Amino acid sequence: MEFDPMSRLIVISNRVSAPKGQSGAQGGLAVAFQAALREYRGIWFGWSGEPTDEFTGQINFQRSEGVTTATVDLEAQDIDEYYNGYANRTLWPLFHYRIDLAEFERGFEDGYQRVNERFADTVRPLIEQDDVVWVQDYHMIPLGHELRKRGCNNRMGFFLHIPWPPRRLLSSLPHAAELVTTLLAYDVIGFHTDEWLEAFRDYVTLDLGATMSEDGTIHLGDRSVKAIACPIGIDTKEFVEAATSTSARLTYRRMRDSADGRDLIVGVDRLDYSKGLEERFLGYERFLVDHPEQRKEVFLLQIAPPSRGEVGSYQRIRATLDALSGRINGAYADIDWVPIRYVNQGFPRHVLAGIYRAARIGLVTPLRDGMNLVAKEYVAAQDPEDPGVLILSRFAGAAEQMKDAVLVNPYSAEEMSDAIVQALAMPKDERIRRWRALMDGIEEKDVLWWRRRFTQELMGDDDSLAV
Ligand code: F6P
Repeated sequence: MEFDPMSRLIVISNRVSAPKGQSGAQGGLAVAFQAALREYRGIWFGWSGEPTDEFTGQINFQRSEGVTTATVDLEAQDIDEYYNGYANRTLWPLFHYRIDLAEFERGFEDGYQRVNERFADTVRPLIEQDDVVWVQDYHMIPLGHELRKRGCNNRMGFFLHIPWPPRRLLSSLPHAAELVTTLLAYDVIGFHTDEWLEAFRDYVTLDLGATMSEDGTIHLGDRSVKAIACPIGIDTKEFVEAATSTSARLTYRRMRDSADGRDLIVGVDRLDYSKGLEERFLGYERFLVDHPEQRKEVFLLQIAPPSRGEVGSYQRIRATLDALSGRINGAYADIDWVPIRYVNQGFPRHVLAGIYRAARIGLVTPLRDGMNLVAKEYVAAQDPEDPGVLILSRFAGAAEQMKDAVLVNPYSAEEMSDAIVQALAMPKDERIRRWRALMDGIEEKDVLWWRRRFTQELMGDDDSLAV
């Protein structure tokens, strides 16, 4: 194709977050998009996160730190059926292998479809002839199809940030085939790992009857779609800088002072059942039971900002963790030591970076995760002369790349306990060797690499986007 240097990038996702500077707490994914959008003359479109009495499609434009955002408010019923409903009660648990938590309701499906149509109606007029459209995540699977119906012939890509489930699991979703078929409206579909990509290929070839050519292009009817594995990274350079900033140093000092010579084990996760927090607490308890001599030598700081609080399964995991952390602290604490510091709030990135740097162990043990950027941030924040050890779940997408972490089965409390012992005893030269290998990986495949890799596939040439 001919490249137009004036092509813009239109990113579309459920949630849009404007840059918050040094003061706001933001997820790794939000920062990744801002970094990518800053490179282009682009727009980031999505839901404002706010309710409205009646959907009007009125767009609120904002420009901040080089990023233009365009957001719309949604009606309470939309939020309930599309976001809390189909996205987070149906797709999220199912795609994270939790069919036991998945709820299948026609109202959710209808609401999801309605909101995707509303997004398509609203964003369509913003898309100019040469723009490239990049849709994000499971909230927006049918959006590309809806845009095509509205005459949008632009190059369109889709990226899934969560796992793609095995086909036998996916087949339990009512109308799975229809939903997956809408995905083929995109030109390029991206996943974080080979495992998710292979599961997707299995579904479209075995259940939809698509064929695949040697270069991996999927063909179904008149559609030809490229599906690729393209692991997201962090803005590694920026995070290294954050970890050595003045405010990170202050946090580092505060943590070290409060640790009083003990080793800090840190976990930072949205409060979500997929993150394996219950299993993590139980694994840590196993460690305390099996190694009483080490008890007062360490403590676990678990930061878990509440998330999706209107969904029952999230309310239940929160109650479970409240009870479990209370029970473990009650059982093992002493007058001058508490085994778990459990904190239900988010922190700005530079504060997190200081905490990571102060931690001897980063405990990242999701039961299933599309990628997990905390694992990468933990590595980036370490002191090269005296780095900590990353303990990483084998079931995080990040484990496909981060083989030099101590990899664990998060379902096994014993393996988790053994991994903590191994990490605490690990000699400095081994810590440095592992850290260096991990750091090389996240320096090479950072967020810029991710964006380039995907847009190259989408446009055939990265330089075609206006910078
Ligand atoms: O990584 C998956 C994801 O759903 C993102 O799309 C989202 O930004 C993040 O988790 C946080 O979820 P939520 O927007 O539901 O708070």
